[in-house]
Amino acid sequence: MIPPRLIFKKGVLKILDQRLLPDKIKFIPVRDAAGTAKATKDMALRGAPLIGCAAAFGFALEIRRIRPSSSSQLERLARRTALLLKASRPTAVALFYAADRMLHKALVFAAANPGKFSPAATGKLLNLIDGEARLVTAEDQTACLAMGNFGAALLPKNCVIMTYCNAGALATMGIGTAVGVITAAHEAGKIKHAYSCETRPYMQGARLTIWELMRGGVPSELLTDNMAAHIIKTCGVNAIVVGADRIASNGDTANKIGTYGLAVIARHHKVPFYVAAPTPTIDGKARDGGAIVIEERSAEEVAFVKGSRIAPRGVKVRHPAFDVTPASLITALITEKGVISPVTRANINKNLSK
Ligand code: MRU
Repeated sequence: MIPPRLIFKKGVLKILDQRLLPDKIKFIPVRDAAGTAKATKDMALRGAPLIGCAAAFGFALEIRRIRPSSSSQLERLARRTALLLKASRPTAVALFYAADRMLHKALVFAAANPGKFSPAATGKLLNLIDGEARLVTAEDQTACLAMGNFGAALLPKNCVIMTYCNAGALATMGIGTAVGVITAAHEAGKIKHAYSCETRPYMQGARLTIWELMRGGVPSELLTDNMAAHIIKTCGVNAIVVGADRIASNGDTANKIGTYGLAVIARHHKVPFYVAAPTPTIDGKARDGGAIVIEERSAEEVAFVKGSRIAPRGVKVRHPAFDVTPASLITALITEKGVISPVTRANINKNLSK
């Protein structure tokens, strides 16, 4: 079993510190939106859907902490809190989706209860906001299960599958997106072998994904990223499945740096390349991948490994944390509403309107 990623109770959010995994299981308690935003920025929690769920809980913590006494105070607080949460990381659209959804709930309440709030109205507000945050999580869990089923159905028997980064339970509040597909297929007896790429520089594959696969009893091996092409060519890999941080409305997909390279290799070897992501990952405002903001992270994360320097002192480093895979290289998008293939704007719109 994978430990709970977020525990939300009585004005406290306990966040599983993923930086310490797989060696230590430790929770960081946060009591406000600023603490949640900091934990997100510092990568104590990560993975697109999980960042969204945490933002929803962080918003609820803040409303409960301040207990606004009027509609105008609620409105100001809600806008400020949503902005604070959205500033924590730029690429995963689930964060923006969740913060905006919480903001909307608060603004609708403020509009329906103008002026000073009675104690009963405040109580109602707190329950409403907590409930909305819990709903964001419940929807993520349901979506993961649905993606698992749709994805598993796409895979052949005796499937040799590869994944990248961590799009597992640790990246969501459910069974995961891409890893959810692998575990659902494993339960259906379809997985012969799974490969997890280590995912330099942050090592989500080495620290998190392979740990999840091992705990789930999936026959699996860890690879360094530069082994992927060789393994695909020589070990009968017949599917690759990854998650997504943001999908433009034409299907271009931002995911962890290195995903694009893997998709190019997959196309060369005619291996189907699947992206599993819930529909809130689809950003209707981004016409194509060029509109997606790519997070740049620190030089230290590239030049150091576990605190040890691996490059010369004073080295100049590039560190884009995500890349964009063009829709044309993606065999299918797997959402909680079904499978989108071929990946076109029209087919995405059809899936969204289900
Ligand atoms: O920087 P991270 O660890 O938050 O990046 C995570 C990824 O890129 C995942 O593959 C993506 O969020 C999909 S998670 C279901």
